[in-house]
Amino acid sequence: RKSGARHFADLSDIAAGDLRRIIDSSLAMKAKRRKGRRSVDRPLEGKVLAMIFDKPSTRTRVSFDLAMRELGGETVMLTGKEMQLGRGETIADTARVLSRFVDAIMIRILEHRDMIELARHADVPVINGLTKKSHPCQVMADVMTFEEHRGPIKGRKIAWSGDANNVLASWVHAAQRFDFSLSVAAPAEFGLPPQLLDWARRSGAKLEVTRDPFEAVRGADAVVSDCWVSMGDKDEQQRQGLLSPYQVNAKLMAAAGSEAIFMHCLPAHRGEEVTDEIIDGPQSVVFDEAENRLHAQKGILAWCLEDSEE
Ligand code: CP
Ligand code: NVA
Repeated sequence: RKSGARHFADLSDIAAGDLRRIIDSSLAMKAKRRKGRRSVDRPLEGKVLAMIFDKPSTRTRVSFDLAMRELGGETVMLTGKEMQLGRGETIADTARVLSRFVDAIMIRILEHRDMIELARHADVPVINGLTKKSHPCQVMADVMTFEEHRGPIKGRKIAWSGDANNVLASWVHAAQRFDFSLSVAAPAEFGLPPQLLDWARRSGAKLEVTRDPFEAVRGADAVVSDCWVSMGDKDEQQRQGLLSPYQVNAKLMAAAGSEAIFMHCLPAHRGEEVTDEIIDGPQSVVFDEAENRLHAQKGILAWCLEDSEE
């Protein structure tokens, strides 16, 4: 860390106590907002967040923009193609320049190393708004949503069925930090990357891996899925074929039991990783997760920027 700026790059970089504090402050700001927007404090008055989107986004874009504004700050929206970054200016120089203008940078970019490079050269906090490798802001909103519906996540069982992608990587980090168990069902071809399995082993995360979705969801408090084709993946016939047994449908949810909630970061590909019946059914909390992106971003922004004057 060059400047001591507090980055939000991965949940595995941040102490469990800090992550818990972020959730607590997100919940407190959510409760205040319920009483009317005006009653929210404006702790980020005068602060500016640059948002770089090299890939499409609906939730991350709107939630960061609103979160910043509701906390009294402002945003500057940048897209990869419109920036000199797209014409070969280095990430390091981009980081140095933006650090002279803004107080924090949120970036969505496929290559994880590009986000890390930006953080390495920025004097201001850098927030990971999704890379091919992880999606930490999403899983903060998801932990918050789980706890609102089912109480403390510590000691509970979360099951994942499908492609072992970026969102799952952040769930693996969260399992260790928040002390819950995570059961992953994925086909061998789309399983967890070896470095992440190593990290889980070394850090003592309670992680189970199986090929059988029915085994994974047994006794689970939540069943989680995500698209089979993430941004940057090739949409191949073979992929769909290998992932189709992992669809979350009525039969799989029945194996989890009626108390289990269904979670998905959205956007959903209905009829692929999840059926309409489940995503629109009584166990689904997907729109609460989407809403909580706003509240979680506030907690994350406040944490990144607290004491940033000093
Ligand atoms: N879940 C999520 O990150 O959605 P967007 O791609 O719309 O930001
Ligand atoms: N895994 C998905 C998440 C989108 C929010 C992707 O990377 O495209």
